[in-house]
Amino acid sequence: MDIKGAVALVTGGASGLGEATVRRLHAGGASVVIVDKNAERGAQLSGELGERAVFADTDVTSAESVQAAVGLATEIGPLRIAVNCAGSGMVGRTINRDGSPHDLAVFEWVIKLNLIGTFNVASLAASAMSKGEPLAGGERGVIVNTASIAAFDGQIGQVAYSASKGGVVGMTLPMARDLGVVGIRVMTIAPGSFDTPIFGFAGDAMKSALTEIVPFPTRMGDPAEYGALVAHIVENQYLNGEVIRIDGAVRFPPK
Ligand SMILES: NC(=O)c1ccc[n+]([C@@H]2O[C@H](COP(=O)([O-])OP(=O)(O)OC[C@H]3O[C@@H](n4cnc5c(N)ncnc54)[C@H](O)[C@@H]3O)[C@@H](O)[C@H]2O)c1
Repeated sequence: MDIKGAVALVTGGASGLGEATVRRLHAGGASVVIVDKNAERGAQLSGELGERAVFADTDVTSAESVQAAVGLATEIGPLRIAVNCAGSGMVGRTINRDGSPHDLAVFEWVIKLNLIGTFNVASLAASAMSKGEPLAGGERGVIVNTASIAAFDGQIGQVAYSASKGGVVGMTLPMARDLGVVGIRVMTIAPGSFDTPIFGFAGDAMKSALTEIVPFPTRMGDPAEYGALVAHIVENQYLNGEVIRIDGAVRFPPK
């Protein structure tokens, strides 16, 4: 799929990995719908990029809200690219040190945002993509979801986050199989530790602990490296139904 001239929708597009993806796809000549609930930052970014960038104030967990963002995209042209980056986490153990259980509302919140939000966007975007004319090789669209290496190497305190990201990993193959008939590919990226505002709460000590365990390159990932992988996935038609780790070969220890 050519990035140039395509219409792309990027959730979480106002910050971090999503913002880097917006910038990369926009620089490659796509028209980009920045889908985020951070209206101030989203409007700022679309204003900065100017032509071919529009912000849609959206909650990815709401079908109505996402349908409106997809509608905005299809007004520009056939929707071809959807990238799911909206997400977050909350630390909590299955039982706390005092034996009390994990807050169920917190567990549900993380699943709703990271797993149900991702499915909601993928399904509504795929429905719109399926109505477009096929391109070369019968391709109609590509969906890129964001998991985390915590889907595989979940640490102590990451039970909700790992479950949500494990769900994203688990959806990848069946979704690609569901959508193959209409020429839509589905890929998932599982990032290691990337230097984004999601680590706003983390001090230097936590960041260096995350960094020093990375075999090579021993640093945090640059969001532009995530954006570059999205661009490659879009352009490489034979990538489908798979999860790619981008993590400098790190494997998270238990804590
Ligand atoms: N940064 C990392 O190291 C890392 C590692 C692995 C996975 N991830 C995943 O990558 C994704 C992006 O993370 P990031 O580091 O760029 O975070 P970030 O906090 O910089 O950006 C997340 C964006 O999602 C938006 N968002 C949150 N809830 C939303 C909702 N309900 N509707 C619409 N938008 C919403 C936020 O406003 C924000 O702009 C997340 O799913 C995260 O779990 C990040």
